[in-house]
Amino acid sequence: MNDLQPDRDPAERGPLLDIVGLRVDFRLDDSVVHAVRGVDLRVAAGETVAVVGESGSGKTATALSVLRLNPEPPCAYPGGEIRFDGRDLLTLSEPELCRIRGRDISMVFQDPMTSLDPLQRVGTQVAEVLRHHRGVSRAQARKTALAALAEVGIPEPERRYRQYPHELSGGLRQRVMIATALVTRPRVLIADEPTTALDVTVQRQILDLLLDLQRRHGMAIVLITHDLGVVAETADHVVVMHHGRVVESGTALDVFDHPADDYTRRLLAATPRLERA
Ligand SMILES: Nc1ncnc2c1ncn2[C@@H]1O[C@H](COP(=O)(O)OP(=O)(O)OP(=O)(O)O)[C@@H](O)[C@H]1O
Ligand SMILES: [Mg+2]
Repeated sequence: MNDLQPDRDPAERGPLLDIVGLRVDFRLDDSVVHAVRGVDLRVAAGETVAVVGESGSGKTATALSVLRLNPEPPCAYPGGEIRFDGRDLLTLSEPELCRIRGRDISMVFQDPMTSLDPLQRVGTQVAEVLRHHRGVSRAQARKTALAALAEVGIPEPERRYRQYPHELSGGLRQRVMIATALVTRPRVLIADEPTTALDVTVQRQILDLLLDLQRRHGMAIVLITHDLGVVAETADHVVVMHHGRVVESGTALDVFDHPADDYTRRLLAATPRLERA
């Protein structure tokens, strides 16, 4: 027996992150948007759960809830739990959440400019995450940050380390953000359209990188994407959202081969490239 047990079914290990009955409201001046209306979503170590659904269905609101990154106000959480490590993240204080963000649970967004500091060299930003969460020395943080830049496929990491976000292309900025998210080896990565802004070759490289890190470190991934081809290739489990609810949940094979929900059938019908995959 191999004690690494690489082929063990992730579902047998129990969920690492367990979202139960999550509700998210946005309370505006004269109305309330019920963005998320009772969502269940669980992901185990080493597993990839894909979240798909049309624009406005509540995917990002759900993802941001995990680290309490929806702006409050207008956001409020009228119900549900987000269990991680035996705790409900929705009940934690801001300092407790700060310790978890970027260390145990990392997020990657579609637009890297929103999460990179324009006034700081990119290498320093990666190193700062390590200094903050791991308390390592400046020299050690620099060394590990350089390795992280190289790991995400950034050429000439020494030179790039010293540059500012505006000096990098969109693809390189996205890689820096991913390096920042992964440098602490988080147990959960939540990726919201992480590659949409990139060209197809770079998209492929970044997905391969995420899957490789997942294999090596047993990271759990929640992947929000519009690309059903990517879902078919990467996801162990698929959650389909519609109007703030989960309308379908199952293995990629189940959901794609026998879509039970009318909405999922229409979603699949609108994606001709899957049939060729
Ligand atoms: N900060 C906010 N203030 C007010 N309403 C918001 C806010 N963020 C999201 N919403 C609303 O919540 C609903 C769900 O939005 P969300 O961004 O989660 O959708 P999504 O599934 O991620 O869509 P997309 O595929 O376009 O990214 C939408 O009606 C949106 O307008
Ligand atoms: Mg979104």
